[in-house]
Amino acid sequence: MIKKYSVKKLLNQGKFLLNKKVLVEGWIRSFRYSIFISLNDGSTIQNLQIVLSTNKLDKIIMKKITIGSSIRVIGIVKKSIGKKQYIELQSLDITIYELVNPEILQKSILQPKRHSFEKLREQAHLRFQTNIFSCIMRIRHHIAFCIHKYFHEHGFFYLHSPIITTSNCEGTGKMFQITTMDLKENQLIDYAKDFFKCKTYLSVSGQLEAETASLGLGKVYTFGPVFRAENSNTSRHLSEFWMIEPEIAFYHLEENINLAEKFLKFVIRYIVENSMEDLIFLNQCLEKWKKKKKNYLLDKLELILKFPFNKISYTETIRILDQEEKKKNIKFSHPIIWGMDLKSEHEQYLVDQYFKKIPVIIFDYPCSIKAFYMRMNNDGKTVRAMDVLFPEIGEIIGGSQREERYDMLLQRMKDTNIDFNKLWWYLDTRRFGSVPHSGFGLGFDRLVQFITGMNNIRDVIPFPRTPNNAEF
Ligand code: 4AD
Ligand code: MG
Repeated sequence: MIKKYSVKKLLNQGKFLLNKKVLVEGWIRSFRYSIFISLNDGSTIQNLQIVLSTNKLDKIIMKKITIGSSIRVIGIVKKSIGKKQYIELQSLDITIYELVNPEILQKSILQPKRHSFEKLREQAHLRFQTNIFSCIMRIRHHIAFCIHKYFHEHGFFYLHSPIITTSNCEGTGKMFQITTMDLKENQLIDYAKDFFKCKTYLSVSGQLEAETASLGLGKVYTFGPVFRAENSNTSRHLSEFWMIEPEIAFYHLEENINLAEKFLKFVIRYIVENSMEDLIFLNQCLEKWKKKKKNYLLDKLELILKFPFNKISYTETIRILDQEEKKKNIKFSHPIIWGMDLKSEHEQYLVDQYFKKIPVIIFDYPCSIKAFYMRMNNDGKTVRAMDVLFPEIGEIIGGSQREERYDMLLQRMKDTNIDFNKLWWYLDTRRFGSVPHSGFGLGFDRLVQFITGMNNIRDVIPFPRTPNNAEF
């Protein structure tokens, strides 16, 4: 049996495999001078150079070969004379799995030329075969992997929170309803006859369940898809996205803030250390296509690692924005008033201009703009909330210390019109050894967007779901 190698493994181990017979499979990325094939199999951004021989068989193949075709090659590993690669494969036998018709190829995003990201999205099923998207997908994988690694190594347990729910954790925003009933307009619906005997939705967050788990397991985290039916057509919003939600018993807000910073830095350091090849490729694309500064992506990531995040209260934030508006003659379209929700123009100014692209963690927000479960401060006006703001992206994490006092929580639920009868089980945890606890939610896709430097969040998830868009 001839041993099968991925392109990545072959290129990495090439030195030790000289003159050995090996088998590789992949897609043809280019075909030059009728003898050089660049083969890629997705395992790495690098291509393997295949050198065709002049035997009869290869000559027949030569005539047929098109870019995009899938092949299997058996060959001998040779030291390459070319400067671009250390080894190449001298072909002995090539099998074609499928040839791509050149006319069809020309109409597709696999035609080797620069295509817009919008165009790539229209052929989302073929995106994985492009250099740029395969790079992003490999990085996405490594980010997910090291998130599990971080939590595992820090004593957290991975919790699978349910996707089907009866409650809206965040209290605001629309949810997708799920039902097995045939809904006819203007018809009164008896949900007691529905599948779950009540109205159910796709969950916007696994937090409430994670809280109950943390109050027994100590440290837990969720990592799963969440769904929001808001009509947000921005470059940072998806209707279906992935969220990571750690929840920790006996944690105060300050510890929660520190965890968020350490965790984000760990992930970014891991990617810088383990995905350099892909980052360098993305960096080159961004320089070429988006006219970004030299080393833009790597410098941006280094900056996150180099300095402590800024930590300021909401009240301080308002003071800074107000002062900046007066001093610098800038005009925000939304006036700065204590109690307002920060808009992206404010967040962007704060991180990108005022704090010179070093992340900012804002804490102690007014209770009127935050969810019911956040712990009330002694001032009776603010809650122990925290948001982590990143350059370019804005809010990447939202979290808080939770209200662990039964009476206070019940009051907040009443004040914010939360159906506390439905959430009886959540409230009940505050009667069985309730303790201070905290957690946060990280928008996974926003983090991937930041690390890969993509303008649009739709370009970092395999099949984006957004308003009017659920094809593929
Ligand atoms: O701030 P959010 O709404 O917080 C929660 O859901 C809490 N239950 C988290 C917790 O404390 N356990 O969402 C958390 C993060 C945001 O900071 C943002 O990064 C991301 O989720 N996010 C979105 N990402 C993509 N598309 C959307 N529509 C998003 N909405 C929020
Ligand atoms: Mg938020």
